[in-house]
Amino acid sequence: MSKQFDVIVIGGGPGGYIAAIRAAQLGFQVACIDEWKNRKGGAAPGGTCTNVGCIPSKALLQSSEHFEHANHHFAEHGISATNVKMDVAKMVARKDAVVKQNNDGILYLFKKNKVAFFHGRGSFVKAVDGGYEIKVSGAADEILMAGQVIIATGSNARALPGADFDEENILSNDGALRLGTVPKKLGLIGSGVIGLEMGSVWRRLGAEVTVLEALPTFLGAVDEQIAREAKKAFDKQGLKIELGVKVGEIKSGKKGVSVAWTNSKGEAQTLDVDKLIVSIGRVPNTTGLNVEGVGLQLDERGAIVVDADCRTNLPGVWAVGDVVRGPMLAHKAEEEGVAVAERIAGQHGHVNFNTIPWVIYTSPEIAWVGRTEQQLKADGVSYKAGTFPFLANGRARALGDTTGMVKFLADAATDEILGVHIVGPMASELISEAVVAMEFRASAEDIARICHAHPSLSEATKEAALAVDKRTLNF
Ligand code: FAD
Ligand code: NAI
Repeated sequence: MSKQFDVIVIGGGPGGYIAAIRAAQLGFQVACIDEWKNRKGGAAPGGTCTNVGCIPSKALLQSSEHFEHANHHFAEHGISATNVKMDVAKMVARKDAVVKQNNDGILYLFKKNKVAFFHGRGSFVKAVDGGYEIKVSGAADEILMAGQVIIATGSNARALPGADFDEENILSNDGALRLGTVPKKLGLIGSGVIGLEMGSVWRRLGAEVTVLEALPTFLGAVDEQIAREAKKAFDKQGLKIELGVKVGEIKSGKKGVSVAWTNSKGEAQTLDVDKLIVSIGRVPNTTGLNVEGVGLQLDERGAIVVDADCRTNLPGVWAVGDVVRGPMLAHKAEEEGVAVAERIAGQHGHVNFNTIPWVIYTSPEIAWVGRTEQQLKADGVSYKAGTFPFLANGRARALGDTTGMVKFLADAATDEILGVHIVGPMASELISEAVVAMEFRASAEDIARICHAHPSLSEATKEAALAVDKRTLNF
């Protein structure tokens, strides 16, 4: 006998668990299946984001930043801290505790919203009258049935050919987040988001970090002016980033990892490191779903093919998050999950892909929403730009962190905000104002005329908006 539901969600990451909660709020009987296990074999919902992604990386970034401050910045505040030591095991244990709080929080939310949680792997059995049979392979196998299925099975780290992850020497994000000691020499392949965040953590803790990046430009998706400013800061910190490289053979042994690579001038080089993190992007995950059995269509990258509303080629089957096209971000997955639950309920769920913010949680933080200057040029849009440096912001001076700037890009004719780009302190929080403004199709003048608290970093946002009209007050 199968257990009947209205909606079955496969995957309990930010896309899946949020979709399940929203569907339950809308009055559906909902099941959510997730297979992630903690070290004791127990359920650990929250997916990549909670277990080996957003949350643990931010926990380690915080700990390592405290260490960096104690070592290098306390003195200027008159605080002497000598013999500052880092207990890596304790830092990692704290990170694990933060992760567990989040796992438990999701289990609590499932109870609160009456979502039935199943711990195990979900796979399609077959299409039946009125929906699909889904098998849960867990401690005990069960068959569930529902008219609507939402797939939110996420993604996995991409390995370099010939250099599989062993999580001992060659690490994915998983191993990178649970190193027991600080490696003397750390190599990273890929200077994308993970490369920069993880490189920052272990550099702050004392590792000599080298990042090998294939592209000739640094952070190609980021506004060029912002990327240049960020690169200057990373260079100053001692994060060694080699651009335009070609990675060759990787040998892993008892003494560590040896990477053969060619630099941008075509010269052969070798990088010998204790540990190597490979962060060259992620691949959509549909392992074990039995997509062939039901004829679910995948694209050439292995992502589930969906339309703009997250409908797959199968009636009543939807897919959201990292397993479909679009940016691999937790908040994008969540927005899609909510929208799909609302569409199932006959509502008009909507995701605005033009206002999805990006944040890189390095120091300085990098955050942006909307189009970059180079995108506007490529699109032939006439625009006005305004920038304001944190150097001229009172709160940034008081904080002792004046790196970077806020940059506004607005339509030359209408003044509508087309993009906001920030590199500097708390960019992750500051970007929200820009997202709200763009969602309401505000003009730069709208932001320039709004009262911002003093002293606050957000005054730099207001001043950058004023700069669009060349009338900054404090610079
Ligand atoms: P996932 O979070 O991957 O969840 C999928 C879940 O489905 C997993 O629990 C998996 O076990 C389960 N599953 C898969 N197949 C099955 C099956 N057949 N049956 C049952 N369960 C199954 N994004 C941000 O927005 N901000 C950040 O700061 C950020 N930091 C990151 C840091 C790192 C190191 C990494 C790797 C990623 C980071 N991301 C960040 C990206 C973010 O983690 C992903 O975009 C997000 O987790 C995608 O959510 P999802 O629900 O689509 O998939
Ligand atoms: P990424 O796409 O951000 O960066 C990968 C980098 O590796 C690129 O710069 C690419 O040019 C380079 N690369 C690819 N192949 C290479 C090769 N053979 N040799 C050298 N360099 C190579 O991917 P990353 O860092 O693995 O992260 C995956 C995704 O996870 C991100 O795109 C993002 O969606 C998500 N994420 C988000 C975070 C955030 O929001 N703060 C934090 C971490 C990850």
